[in-house]
Amino acid sequence: MHTAAQSTGIFADLKNKIESKTARVGIVGLGYVGLPLAVEFANAGFSVTGIDVLQGKVDSLNRGQSHVQDVASSEVAKLMGAKRLQATTDFSVVRDLDTINICVPTPLRKTKDPDMSYIVSAVEEIAKHFHPGLLIILESTTYPGTTDELLLPTFEKLGLKVGEDFFLCFSPERVDPGNPVYQTSNTPKVVGGVTPACTEMGRVFFSQALDHVVPVSNTRVAEMVKLLENTFRMINIGLVNEMAIMCDGMGINVWEVIDAAATKPFGFMPFYPGPGLGGHCIPIDPFYLSWKTKQSGIEARFIELAGYINGNMPHFVLDKIQNALNESGKAVKGSHVHIAGVAYKRNIDDMRESPALDVLLLLRKRGAKVTYSDPYVPQLKLDTLMLESADLISSAAAADCVVIITDHSSFDYGGLVASSKLVVDTRNALKGMESPKIVRL
Ligand SMILES: NC(=O)c1ccc[n+]([C@@H]2O[C@H](COP(=O)([O-])OP(=O)(O)OC[C@H]3O[C@@H](n4cnc5c(N)ncnc54)[C@H](O)[C@@H]3O)[C@@H](O)[C@H]2O)c1
Repeated sequence: MHTAAQSTGIFADLKNKIESKTARVGIVGLGYVGLPLAVEFANAGFSVTGIDVLQGKVDSLNRGQSHVQDVASSEVAKLMGAKRLQATTDFSVVRDLDTINICVPTPLRKTKDPDMSYIVSAVEEIAKHFHPGLLIILESTTYPGTTDELLLPTFEKLGLKVGEDFFLCFSPERVDPGNPVYQTSNTPKVVGGVTPACTEMGRVFFSQALDHVVPVSNTRVAEMVKLLENTFRMINIGLVNEMAIMCDGMGINVWEVIDAAATKPFGFMPFYPGPGLGGHCIPIDPFYLSWKTKQSGIEARFIELAGYINGNMPHFVLDKIQNALNESGKAVKGSHVHIAGVAYKRNIDDMRESPALDVLLLLRKRGAKVTYSDPYVPQLKLDTLMLESADLISSAAAADCVVIITDHSSFDYGGLVASSKLVVDTRNALKGMESPKIVRL
């Protein structure tokens, strides 16, 4: 609902600029989240400036090269050529911007505490060049309260009033790298502002480039939405991983169980077991929530338990490899184990938190010789060891055991089974194939 104040002054000016697409859009952090968003707004007709701290990334973008798999270099080159998109390391461009989306990393520290340093640093740089009439939207996944407790005081200290002089929102990012159906433009976007005017400005902004916007009442709701989504996934994956361990103990094929259960048309949603969690979201985000709730004396017990079960999966996979080798008269020590797929999920090049790293390290610790194949990851650093992706079929033939960690669709699974002595399949990539060589999770 519009108030009288919203039809005049700073609110109306900014809204008009956004609706007429003359607003100058800034995206801080040009990674998996920021670059697709920048491209979406540039394609919608806005002039977009991306700001990143990495000079190399900025230079290659300005040369028209994309570093994100879901964004084609030709797209970046086209938008750069049309002067719709530009990249810089210089935060002073904030003076000329009307909107800023913050998409910087939010990792966990070793102690599983949130590392807010990237957000703090970006916000401090923005504050140096802050001006009335700015819309700021935080997109980095974080604990509920971050926008209110960390961003708002920094900007209000400058003497400006939120909801009147500037607008501040949180909008969770839902990008699913490698998803051929849902990309930035057709994935509904939740947005919540510090005040109703902020929410409305956020809604108007996203509506210019995205198909569906979902306004919520405040920033904390928006922050919690993301944590519910990712915690839901993490806990369900934990449950199904525990099911896999139980089924293994009872000699039941867990994959067949899940497929049959998924025929129920209501009240069931399939999740699949695997070698462990990977990526920048599911293994990390729920711990933002448990860290925050601990401060109010509430223990997030589901999260801790699922974290424990999921974190143990690489060890379970190691046991499977060990048992499979033992049955063929070999030990892990001295055996050659070849890993098929090291990226954290199918058909992408992202190695962040990939369980393949844990499995490789555990195998090395037990004295195995390890090699790997991954068409998306040409090189891999494992402690001090530098590995290079090798040909799948000839490596499979040379190895004592092949372990499928990531089920890339380009792998020749028939050829893999035919040429290998033993295959441990942690993803059901060999569904429908029967062979005494195959050991399933
Ligand atoms: N990758 C995903 O699938 C995904 C999905 C949903 C949400 N998220 C969340 O979105 C946020 C960004 O994730 P990402 O995957 O795009 O990370 P990323 O590492 O791919 O990109 C982040 C970018 O920010 C830059 N950066 C770091 N500090 C900066 C600073 N102070 N100023 C400007 N730039 C800075 C980095 O150089 C990098 O280019 C995280 O909070 C993440 O949890 C990620």
